[in-house]
Amino acid sequence: MKTLAGVLPFTRHLLEKAVPEGGLAVDATAGNGHDTVFLAKLVGESGTVVSFDIQDAAIHATQARLDAATKLNLSERVTLVKDSHENVLEHLDEDPLVHGAVFNLGYLPGSDKSVTTTPSSTIRAVEHLFSTLAPGGVIVLVVYHGHEKGKVERDALIDFVRGIPQEEAHVLEYRFTNQRNNPPFIVAIERRG
Ligand SMILES: C[S@@+](CC[C@H](N)C(=O)[O-])C[C@H]1O[C@@H](n2cnc3c(N)ncnc32)[C@H](O)[C@@H]1O
Repeated sequence: MKTLAGVLPFTRHLLEKAVPEGGLAVDATAGNGHDTVFLAKLVGESGTVVSFDIQDAAIHATQARLDAATKLNLSERVTLVKDSHENVLEHLDEDPLVHGAVFNLGYLPGSDKSVTTTPSSTIRAVEHLFSTLAPGGVIVLVVYHGHEKGKVERDALIDFVRGIPQEEAHVLEYRFTNQRNNPPFIVAIERRG
């Protein structure tokens, strides 16, 4: 067992702390649906997950992954939205209280690498989600910066989050600094209560 949690377990740990049973969670980049399924289990039968992706392939893969968990009826608590995450507020109820949101930046593994998240839409989505975040709620971004566009997005995102006033949020960067090949790292934003 490792003492320092890896990036994916630490992402889930943060979401587990922030998202209660019956809560509202957002998967901003549904992809193959791993995080959507994780969030759907976390919120339980009485909770809600809204998941976004701009690609049909991702929406279908996520629906298939939800359907595969037949006994849990996960689909009933998940709304899949084919739209950019920057439009998140158009797809949530009025005055929503989001407990947790997750982004996996970059492109869909095994798919068209030219379709990636972009700095401007990612930052707009974070701004909108932050405006709906419950006190103690968290936005977790897993930043993949091995590819050229990823480096540009990383720099823009880091600039943006480091500028969030400390009275409003705790901002965390969690990364292993001695690993080769630009491993992914986490940016987490917790709304202060
Ligand atoms: C790294 S993948 C996500 C992996 C996913 N979390 C999983 O569990 O498989 C990134 C996804 O973000 C999607 N994406 C890119 N730009 C987007 C946008 N503006 N809004 C929503 N999704 C977007 C891509 O289509 C891709 O499926």
